[in-house]
Amino acid sequence: MANSPVRLLDLMRQTEDPHVINLAAGIPSSDFLPLEALKTALEGEIQSRAREMFSYHRPEGAALLREAIRDYLAARGIGVNAEEVLVTTGCSGALSSLINTVLKKGDTVVCEAPAYYGQLELLRAVGVKFRSVATAVGQEPDLAKWARALRAKPKPKLLVVTSTLSNPSGATIREEWRPKMVELCRKAGVPILEDDIYGDLLGRARPRPLRAYDDGGTVLYVTSFSKTVAPGLRIGFALPGKWMEAAADHQCRQSIHGAVPPEYLTAAFLRSGRMDGHLEMLRSVYGKRRELAGGILARELPEGFRADDPAGGYMLWVRGGRPGLMDEVSKKCIERGVAVVGGGIFFAASPKEACFRLNCARATPEDLARGVGIFCEVLTSAVARTGGRKSRT
Ligand SMILES: Cc1ncc(COP(=O)(O)O)c(C=O)c1O
Repeated sequence: MANSPVRLLDLMRQTEDPHVINLAAGIPSSDFLPLEALKTALEGEIQSRAREMFSYHRPEGAALLREAIRDYLAARGIGVNAEEVLVTTGCSGALSSLINTVLKKGDTVVCEAPAYYGQLELLRAVGVKFRSVATAVGQEPDLAKWARALRAKPKPKLLVVTSTLSNPSGATIREEWRPKMVELCRKAGVPILEDDIYGDLLGRARPRPLRAYDDGGTVLYVTSFSKTVAPGLRIGFALPGKWMEAAADHQCRQSIHGAVPPEYLTAAFLRSGRMDGHLEMLRSVYGKRRELAGGILARELPEGFRADDPAGGYMLWVRGGRPGLMDEVSKKCIERGVAVVGGGIFFAASPKEACFRLNCARATPEDLARGVGIFCEVLTSAVARTGGRKSRT
């Protein structure tokens, strides 16, 4: 919520208690990591490139990785040179470099409501003013809504959007709107910061990123391999376009560059040709988990609540009822051994209805079923006891 005391730091530290079924943290299970492929890649790199791997290198990132990323992007419809890629510490590092490069205190930013908590936290730290566009699966804002937000005064300095499988809503901008949205922003002179961290989890239906419709003059692209290969690598990257020099300068002042061994390891993994098969596996497992949790929610959520299927990824977004239910239900759930995150933290201003993000990819299927069942029971009794209606405000 607007003045929420919750920090990303607290969320990341959140319970590792093995007795708690954790549906709260946005982290998938480590059971799905491509460990064998990563071990092979690491051994190969140590054999052949140990000297470079343990030395300082170019601040923008290892040439081998930037070239592998260029090829990875080409397969997703984005044509760039390796020199246009800025390797970062996770997607968070990319977001931080670009937000701090483009924005200053008092600027207005158009963002999604709900939006990824880490984006909001970085934007708040700069001291921006938020202008939110409501978004949800099946109710993705059309161009007219974005256009209104772009036209309103004061003129925004940036539009921030997680274009595919947004976190937490699961919303994906339709393919046919993408070139028009880029054009709209180009004409308005408002750059787009596109976070594409979940794009590969949508599979064949994955629309081309917004950046595929731009030459780098309007869209600043960020992503990482945290949700697809391994979060512990901490390898992300940005395509800062015309802001490349400023973003590289900012990043260099912060850290000179990120750790080199994960860069070599990620490059080797990308070159190994194992990525596509690994993504297929993830999409299949996550699809089954969403189906399991979604089935229970469809049967057991109280009247007036819904959870739309985002058709990819591993999170479900439950909404309905009055906002006060969020705290109450999260507290009662944890008493019963289930961690769920109340969705208020994903809004720049307080939401008008209760919402919860459920992570389906961390718990085992048995725990997931039990956890979602308990969540539905707790929600149902809270609604029955205190009324679930939305407030009129
Ligand atoms: C939309 C979005 N962007 C960025 C991040 C952070 O990514 P990374 O772990 O690569 O820093 C997350 C993590 O949950 C996210 O959901």
